[in-house]
Amino acid sequence: MKKLIIANWKMQFSHNQACSWIETELPSLQETVASTEHELVICPSFTELQYATSCFPELPWGAQDCGTALKGAYTGEVSAQSLKDMGIRYTIIGHSERRLHHHETDVQVAQKTELLLELGIHPIICIGEVGEEKEQTPDLLTRQLSLVKPLYTAYDLCIIAYEPAWAIGSGQLPTQEELRNALSTIRGLLHDKNLLLLYGGSIQAPHARLFSPLVDGFLLGGASLNSEELKKIILSC
Ligand code: PGA
Repeated sequence: MKKLIIANWKMQFSHNQACSWIETELPSLQETVASTEHELVICPSFTELQYATSCFPELPWGAQDCGTALKGAYTGEVSAQSLKDMGIRYTIIGHSERRLHHHETDVQVAQKTELLLELGIHPIICIGEVGEEKEQTPDLLTRQLSLVKPLYTAYDLCIIAYEPAWAIGSGQLPTQEELRNALSTIRGLLHDKNLLLLYGGSIQAPHARLFSPLVDGFLLGGASLNSEELKKIILSC
């Protein structure tokens, strides 16, 4: 079954490293993607998006965030309109690193989601435990989704990535039962939406094979920096 695989490069590459990866690694990676039915969306830093979209305009590129307003006096922010102008098709919103280090709130996540939906860019909304709050999952997920849910019409594609912060970059994964429970809470909350539900957090090829039947795709961090590992994950889904 077709899976959506998001490569979140975070701030791991410098501009030169990212551009050289795009030039040297991407062509053979794309051959692997094309041999499957999956879709791969790479999300470099803002500074590489122009280069990425001009080298490979046909690919579905993603951004890692956007501002809460389309324009104005917001020093350092990047407008969703600029992403649209560059041909960006997806944008990660509410990543736990944004919620944790930048105190991003559910209100801001909803503002960004609304702007992106209006512009026809798919938001990839990250929800899940931000710290050690594992046992509060259902309440937390309900709260994190409450403001974004009403923004989606029946036609919008609602892409949610369940990413417990304790699993990100830690090598720790939820058990199949923990993951099933969280996913079923999310599916219950969004039962009337056109939903693609992803999992993210310490995914490598063996976990992708194990979790693939439970989800519509994966949000990858560390593993997405290595094109050979990325190929293995794509072929394991
Ligand atoms: P990880 O990151 O795969 O390195 O755990 C996932 C994420 O932060 O989206």
